Amino acid sequence: MDGLKMQTPNLVDANIEKIATLFPNCITEDRAENGTVRRVVDFDLLRQELSASLVEGPRERYTLNWPGKNEAILTANAPIAKTLRPCREDSVDFDTTHNIYIEGDNLDALKLLQETYLSKIKMIYIDPPYNIGNDFIYEDDFAEDTETFFQRSNQMDGEGNRLVANTEANGRFHSDWMTMMYSRLKLARNLLREDGIIFISIDDNEQANLKKQCDEIFGEDNFLAQIMWQKMYSGKADATHFGRFHEYILCYARNSNVAEILLLPRTEEMNARYKNPDNDPRGDWLSNDLTAAGERSAGHYEVLSPSTGKSFDSPQGKHWLYSQETMKKLLEDNRIYFGNNGDAFPRLKRFLTEVQQGRRANTIWLHDEVGHTDEGTKELKKLFDTAVNFSAPKPTRLLKQMMVIASKPNDIILDFFSGSATTAHATMQLNAEDSGNRKFIMVQLPEPCDEKSESFKAGYTTIAEIGKERIRRAGKKIISESPLTAQNLDIGFRVLKVDTSNMKDVYYTPDELKQDNLELFKDHIKPDRIPEDLLFQVFIDWGLDLTLPITKETIDGKTVFLVDTNALIACFDAGITEELVKKLAAHKPLRAVFRDDAFGSDSIKINVEQIFKSLSPGTEVKSI
Ligand SMILES: C[S@@+](CC[C@H](N)C(=O)[O-])C[C@H]1O[C@@H](n2cnc3c(N)ncnc32)[C@H](O)[C@@H]1O
Repeated sequence: MDGLKMQTPNLVDANIEKIATLFPNCITEDRAENGTVRRVVDFDLLRQELSASLVEGPRERYTLNWPGKNEAILTANAPIAKTLRPCREDSVDFDTTHNIYIEGDNLDALKLLQETYLSKIKMIYIDPPYNIGNDFIYEDDFAEDTETFFQRSNQMDGEGNRLVANTEANGRFHSDWMTMMYSRLKLARNLLREDGIIFISIDDNEQANLKKQCDEIFGEDNFLAQIMWQKMYSGKADATHFGRFHEYILCYARNSNVAEILLLPRTEEMNARYKNPDNDPRGDWLSNDLTAAGERSAGHYEVLSPSTGKSFDSPQGKHWLYSQETMKKLLEDNRIYFGNNGDAFPRLKRFLTEVQQGRRANTIWLHDEVGHTDEGTKELKKLFDTAVNFSAPKPTRLLKQMMVIASKPNDIILDFFSGSATTAHATMQLNAEDSGNRKFIMVQLPEPCDEKSESFKAGYTTIAEIGKERIRRAGKKIISESPLTAQNLDIGFRVLKVDTSNMKDVYYTPDELKQDNLELFKDHIKPDRIPEDLLFQVFIDWGLDLTLPITKETIDGKTVFLVDTNALIACFDAGITEELVKKLAAHKPLRAVFRDDAFGSDSIKINVEQIFKSLSPGTEVKSI
């Protein structure tokens, strides 16, 4: 019976697979330091395959570099032995919701989401720290050799002592920020669907660096726009040189050939320009020129007004837009207008019902359409009866605009710098407005609130606490404001907290487990972990949707989890009997998992696979 991996994937393996698909001859095997045989790339061969188009060594080339870039790449690829622990008390509608709130460092969260959400996310929005001189950034564990890495990643990190202030006095001020962003964006790209789109808020401090970094990670061809958001509407008299009224939203596609930017709804103003002076039964219309500049001979003929018989031809330097035959058809269909008296120069009628039912988003987003920073602050304050101070939350209208152009009603939206959870609020709001069913995944570090702040005094000790409470309050408010249309709105969320592995600290990976230290693994699960913790570790390992419905049953006195009817059956109790295994196999689950040390005797363990093979051959059986 195979054990679960209990570590996130090593993304270097995935890269080797990609090379293997293109150049299978360049993949070979060697023996690692610990004696195991592994797949490796024969770089000499690969170099030969690409010989004419290689640049190596000190030769000049166009490149983006900073101290820390190598670390960032290693950090992104390295596996971690962490887990997500469900927290029912903080959640809303835990059993039925399809939304997720992850509390923890987003680097860990992005790694833990790799298997389940690989190429599944339609839209990502992030609003990272802008690096304005005192932002806290999270110092990552840079990858060392596997052993040291696991020692460190298995350690508790509850003190928040890895949060460091990045001040301009730091000699690596820009580099540290770049390093922090690079590994996260690389991991985030893997999660985007082929037609997925990412939006990143940024201001002048790091805009140029971020743009270069994104060009490298997403590819210049996938750059869609640098949107200018007017975040303020009145100037600051004390501003040096210029009053800064705007910031940016960088927008990239995973693949610009398939990503689609949807149209925004037409505005009242746009529609108001359409009128119906001749009471056309097809409704309101707007008239367009019927001529184009150019050689008159390209289309000049007589057009007669049907009501007055007055004749018109294209003027000098212009020609009719259509052939005589098409023009005749347009006249017959009453699509040419000659003014109220039938004697004006003809124009083409364009009916409102026939124009594109939307408008193309442009790259300047004004505050009257998408809100401004004050609006974001007021929205948050209004939700909380007690004062909550959160620095410059985004207005929900800004987020809604991104969702309208980049998501469809059933899509998943991820924000891994979620702050006060504006993105979650906007997702629920938009779903209420267009009967959508978008799901959100928020990730937020439990960054401590300043003890002197209003938020702290009101009882919110971390930003994650503010974020969760905002979603609770916003959900209730949306339902109360639209009691009829928002009845079935999903205002719940499953809280999952990043934590150390459920397994007792062992300083080797499960892969490295040898027969002689098997004893160590007896009762290998940490005593504070409950069966539901193990269940979520199984979800992560198997890449199962983290919002699958879970039911708990007692069978033969043991607690059994049935996930999404038959996606998974799990029992983490000790003393599993053959009778119980037979009953579970009768459900014909796609997957089954047991605790490694849970079988009454070794013979039962051996029999378990046999029982499944005969009663439910399609079941994959593993142990934890
Ligand atoms: C600018 S705020 C986002 C504000 C958000 N857009 C809103 O409207 O409320 C950035 C957030 O990212 C969080 N953050 C910073 N580093 C993080 C990390 N490594 N993992 C998760 N969250 C992080 C900070 O705590 C902060 O709340």
